[in-house]
Amino acid sequence: MEDSALRAYVTTLRQTFHQHPELGFQEFETSRRVREELTSLGLPIQSCCGTGVVAELTGTVPGRRVLLRADMDALPMTEETGLPFASICPGVMHACGHDAHTAMLLGAAKLLAEQREQLKGSVRFLFEPAEEFGGAGLKLIEEGVLEGVDAVFGLHVSGGLPCGKVNVQAGPRMAGCDGFSVTLQGVAGHGSAPHLTVDVIPALAAVLLSLQTVVSREIDPADSAVLSVGTVQAGTASNIIPGEAALTGTLRYFRPEVGQTLRAALERVVQHTASAFRVEHQITWRMGLPPVVNDPAVTAIAARSACAVLGEQALVEDAAAIGSDDFACYLQKVPGVYAFLGISNPEKGITYSCHHPKFDLDEDALSSGSRLHAQFALDYLNAHSN
Ligand code: NI
Repeated sequence: MEDSALRAYVTTLRQTFHQHPELGFQEFETSRRVREELTSLGLPIQSCCGTGVVAELTGTVPGRRVLLRADMDALPMTEETGLPFASICPGVMHACGHDAHTAMLLGAAKLLAEQREQLKGSVRFLFEPAEEFGGAGLKLIEEGVLEGVDAVFGLHVSGGLPCGKVNVQAGPRMAGCDGFSVTLQGVAGHGSAPHLTVDVIPALAAVLLSLQTVVSREIDPADSAVLSVGTVQAGTASNIIPGEAALTGTLRYFRPEVGQTLRAALERVVQHTASAFRVEHQITWRMGLPPVVNDPAVTAIAARSACAVLGEQALVEDAAAIGSDDFACYLQKVPGVYAFLGISNPEKGITYSCHHPKFDLDEDALSSGSRLHAQFALDYLNAHSN
């Protein structure tokens, strides 16, 4: 397929999705358009997890199966880019590039459908709903999207990398995260008679300060980890000792073992500090997402694909991101790689990072993204063909 035709196809789709952003599980129009495009390529499609779409391209020669994934949802924020194709939906914006992800994967489906004869195995295309805020990844896995899949590949645009560059790196690439809330119960009473109460305020203060030593004293300095308390709540008046206090926070880490250490330390510190202060405690976990960890062997193949598409000099190393992505759930089950495609371009004024109301991307990167998806699928299947 000519690059100009591919560019036009992917750019038009991206701008359409951008202008009509939809929040998680409400991607009705996006999903309809995705199904329409895939059907026009002659691919059998299936709905998953509500608005999600899965399509299958089966090659003429049997072989392995690779899954290529894009996410489709937008964010609840108001766009301030002033682009001619800016969001027409108030309070909803594609500020994380998922419009581009969806368009690029459709471009890849078109490229691969044209090369069906050369395909040694099959390619599954997954258009995932609701990646933001927890993600649909686990539900999609329960619905069987990974069944029979040997490798997964995903691509996220990166405002931290210039257009023309790509990061394909083995090991931890994005952080795992868990949320926690801690509630302490004591005995309320008058501020003038603390001996008749069991005061939760000093207990909460002690818990809060002790938690600050978990990362600094228990985590290997060579590992990265965060334990942050984001809310603290207690009391209603200056002369009342409250009966209950609460705090909430978040954990971030790149290795699952570090996550286990953080959770165990938090539980131990809360439990023993609470008992030292004679208060009851309750800990509630909101298990977030595991870290995104790229498989070395699959990453090596994807790195070669990236060089083939963008040139040797395009491949760059980058620090792992402290943000999270539910692509991590797939990588826990199947070896794969999450790559980052450079889209910033200061000369065009494209400098804002994801989740900013002025976030935009250099559309020159889009066709490379489609080609990278497709090239990876071909390279992986060729590498494992008999
Ligand atoms: Ni995103």
